[in-house]
Amino acid sequence: MPESTAAVPANPRCIAVLHIASEVAPFIKSGGLADVAQALPAALRRLGHDARVCLPCYKRVYLEADRRGVRWLPQPMIIESGGVDHRVGIGLVDLDGLPVYLLACNELYDRDGLYGPSQHQDYEDNARRFSVFSKAALALPGAIGWAPHIVHAHDWQAGLVPALLERGFNRALPATRSVFTIHNIAFQGSFPPHDMRLAGLDPWLYNPMHCEHFGRFNMLKTGIVFADRVTTVSRRYAEEIQTSEFGWTLDAVIRHHAYKLSGITNGIDPIAWNPATDPHLPARYDVQDLAGKRACKQALRSECGLAPYEGACLVGMVSRLTEQKGVDLVIDAVSPYILAGRMQLVVVGSGDLYLEHRLHALQQRHPGWVYVWYGYNEGLAHRCIAGSDLFLMPSRFEPCGLTQMYAMRYGTLPLVRYTGGLADTVVDVTTGAGNGFTFGPVDLGHFSSVLDRALGLYQYFPAEWAAAQRRGMTTDFSWDRAAQHYAELYRSITWP
Ligand code: ADP
Ligand code: GLC
Repeated sequence: MPESTAAVPANPRCIAVLHIASEVAPFIKSGGLADVAQALPAALRRLGHDARVCLPCYKRVYLEADRRGVRWLPQPMIIESGGVDHRVGIGLVDLDGLPVYLLACNELYDRDGLYGPSQHQDYEDNARRFSVFSKAALALPGAIGWAPHIVHAHDWQAGLVPALLERGFNRALPATRSVFTIHNIAFQGSFPPHDMRLAGLDPWLYNPMHCEHFGRFNMLKTGIVFADRVTTVSRRYAEEIQTSEFGWTLDAVIRHHAYKLSGITNGIDPIAWNPATDPHLPARYDVQDLAGKRACKQALRSECGLAPYEGACLVGMVSRLTEQKGVDLVIDAVSPYILAGRMQLVVVGSGDLYLEHRLHALQQRHPGWVYVWYGYNEGLAHRCIAGSDLFLMPSRFEPCGLTQMYAMRYGTLPLVRYTGGLADTVVDVTTGAGNGFTFGPVDLGHFSSVLDRALGLYQYFPAEWAAAQRRGMTTDFSWDRAAQHYAELYRSITWP
């Protein structure tokens, strides 16, 4: 059987770990999970571990896979779900040294959407799609002649992996342990009870201590219950999900399993997000010389058709447009500051239709001062983060958040709600050693007041602004520290 070619640096205590995620950049991405599922295994390999990753081969994945010279293994796996056999092909791509396995089953994944025909609708067979994905991921090691010490499953789409492992689905992996990472507890993969037969788990597990949650089969809960270790993507979010405010009805389950829970704050990919080398930018810069950033700002203004009004702070937002991200607060708050000539706004995002309509109305009200790009646009996201002075992330909750860290690396001060990973990464300038702005309660008054404070610092205290930029640009957000924590966690369950 052809095997991965990527060499693993010598490490006498090398851990073999298979990451199982429904999105991996640059193959397919709807949010930060894709960034993490690429960058974390890559960082683990840099530490000398044999980390690999697998994902479903959606329609759009084929394009990137072909571009990168995918190699298809001759023998498909046969994966049973609810009495139906699915043929699952295995593609292998070498992503700059990281082996990426594509699990291809055209009747389930060869579609335009990831989770549904649009962002507002799910596919009716998602329980089957992700049951087959979890089973195929666990069968993969056998098919390629490899035995990982750890399977590391991400989010509800891979939530069945720890349960299937524990229940002996793959008897060839008796010593393998599982880690389950919650990237966002609001998304749980909740299905009608009869869908549990697709998972192939014993029916008696349909009870509130295991897979059932308020009368539904819940894949996220299943992952939490059965995993050897549960992690989430920031230290503060690990605390928050134990409360009813942030637990999305799973807080009692989390508290029950708190003995095996930890929070490890994500890093960012320092190569993909580096203003000194970023190919998406019209000019490059670093902390020593910000002239390129000023050029990026000019270029962003003209790209977005904004008035060339020098005095205004250029404010950016790159986000899924959902209630989580506090977009409504931004829409409600900004008009007085725009009318006073203090700020211009660029938003790059897609999501809930009502928020898109409200943003459209805002742009109509302030032509030349507000620009909104609807949809996913990697290049514009980089140019918006580089060209803006201030970056908004007033999230109601935020498990980690990556864009605030990208913004800081690009000398753009983040304005964030003090929650989850935002609280772990952004320090308010009022401390004297800050790199951004934070606020507490999610209401218009608190948000407007911190926005006013940020625009005031920009306008009247350029030296303090520049000092905060420098602190943000030099903060270490690299993956190395987080990857080290994961390696220690793996070791704690692999070696006695
Ligand atoms: P979440 O995963 O909750 O959406 P994160 O901050 O963790 O939030 O990650 C969002 C990721 O998606 C970042 O890499 C960000 O740059 C990217 N992103 C979000 N919206 C867009 C968009 N419209 N176009 C391009 N990239 C986007
Ligand atoms: C989720 C969270 C986000 C986090 C990302 C990667 O999408 O909403 O806060 O940064 O996962 O862990």
